Order: sequence, then structure tokens, then C-alpha cells
Amino acid sequence: MYPIELKQVTKSFKNASGEGDLLILNSIDLCLLPGKSTAIIGKSGTGKSTLLQIAGGLDAPTSGTVLCNETDLGSLSDSKKSLIRNRNMGFVFQNNMLLEDFTALENVMIPAMIGGSSKKQCADRALQLLDKLGLSDRLDHLPGQLSGGEKQRVAICRALMNNPDVVFADEPTGSLDEENAREVENMLFDIVSSEKRTLLLVTHNIDFANRCDMVYRLRNRTLTLEKS
Ligand SMILES: Nc1ncnc2c1ncn2[C@@H]1O[C@H](COP(=O)(O)OP(=O)(O)O)[C@@H](O)[C@H]1O
Ligand SMILES: [Mg+2]
Repeated sequence: MYPIELKQVTKSFKNASGEGDLLILNSIDLCLLPGKSTAIIGKSGTGKSTLLQIAGGLDAPTSGTVLCNETDLGSLSDSKKSLIRNRNMGFVFQNNMLLEDFTALENVMIPAMIGGSSKKQCADRALQLLDKLGLSDRLDHLPGQLSGGEKQRVAICRALMNNPDVVFADEPTGSLDEENAREVENMLFDIVSSEKRTLLLVTHNIDFANRCDMVYRLRNRTLTLEKS
């Protein structure tokens, strides 16, 4: 059983006038192996984010199947899909997507509060994660009071909050300077491996990608395995 499996996934978009299909992904097969990290590399505009969004159930393929622990995401209602995402998946995006009116601690607690855990349980887990990522003295800061690197570290904590099977990270260091990028990169790999999570990383940075167990290149709408 794979935490995520894509079978013959094809995606095309309509252009602005709603006509003419633009084929982005063509019949893609991909398995994420439990506890392993997989990177997708490729030039800008090749469809990496589209692929990650489909793998994480945030977008639907035009044809093909996405399985999460053998459940076909395409067969589920939006609310069931949201439930699976809340329980089994964590997301880190290039622009942290933190809620601006909530503190770092609250941002990290939110996925577990939505999942129905007690406030005490949520706070304990959130504090543990924030401590691991060196943010113990930033708990009550709003996102606007944090640096770019700190915001991404909060976003990583939030993604891991519900002990997801899979962490999806789309260019998580893409808007950081080199030093902060390296720090966030290290923390992401440390926490994902110490908590034995499966990682799908999308990046155009080859060095970052090469830290993953497997690397695929997206080119000409298909994936080629570059490292395993
Ligand atoms: N919602 C959409 N509607 C139409 N075209 C889209 C949409 N989302 C992405 N695209 C197009 O799909 C291609 C791949 O985009 P994306 O997945 O963001 O690439 P990458 O992440 O590799 O830079 C681009 O040409 C982009 O313009
Ligand atoms: Mg992208």
C-alpha cells in the first residue's frame, strides 16, 4: 500500500477563452514510498505545482486516478477529501499561507483543532514542534512579525501537526535567501526523517532535490526517474 499513488494521471487546462486544451501532464504514474522522500524537479512552467496539487487532492486530474492509502480521491465528496487531507496530508507552500490574524502557536494548532483534538493536546503537540524548529520564543508573534525563514518554519510545524502520512512541499525555500533557505531545508529534512513521514518535494533546486531518496524530472509532460 502506498501513501500516494498516481495512475495514468493526465491534466489539461482550457485557455482564457475556454477553448483549446493545453496538455500539462500526460499519463503520469508515480508511487510515493512510505517513509521515503521524493523530489520532482523541472523548469518553471513544466507542471510541477499542478502535479503536487493533484497528488494532494487539491486539484483533480482530467483523467487517471489518485489513490491515498488505496482510497480513490476521485470517488470522494469534497468534505471526505478535506477530511483525508486534514488527517493524512500536510502542505508547505512557497508563500507560507499562514493566517495573518493568528499567532505562530495558533497557526500550528489550527489543523488539529479542525481535526477535533482537545485544546490541551493541540497545544502540547504544537509547542513540541515549534520547539524542535527553534521557535519557542516566537509563539505569540503574528506572521507579520516574523522573518521569511521563521514563517516557513511555522508552516512546516503546521504541516506536521496532525502526524500526516505525507508532507507535500512546493518550493518551500523558493522565496528565501540562501542562508535561510539552507536552514529551512535542513529543518524540513530533519523533522520529516525523525518523524518518519513521506515527503513529496517540488523544487527547481537540484541540490535540494538530491537530498531526497528519489528524484524525478518533469519534462515534456512526463516524469523520468533521475535518482533512486
Ligand atoms: N488553473 C490554471 N489554468 C490554466 N493554466 C494553468 C493553470 N494552472 C497552471 N496552468 C499552466 O500550467 C502550466 C504548469 O504550471 P505549474 O504547474 O504552475 O508549473 P511549475 O510549478 O512547474 O512552474 C503553466 O503553463 C501554467 O500556466
Ligand atoms: Mg510551481
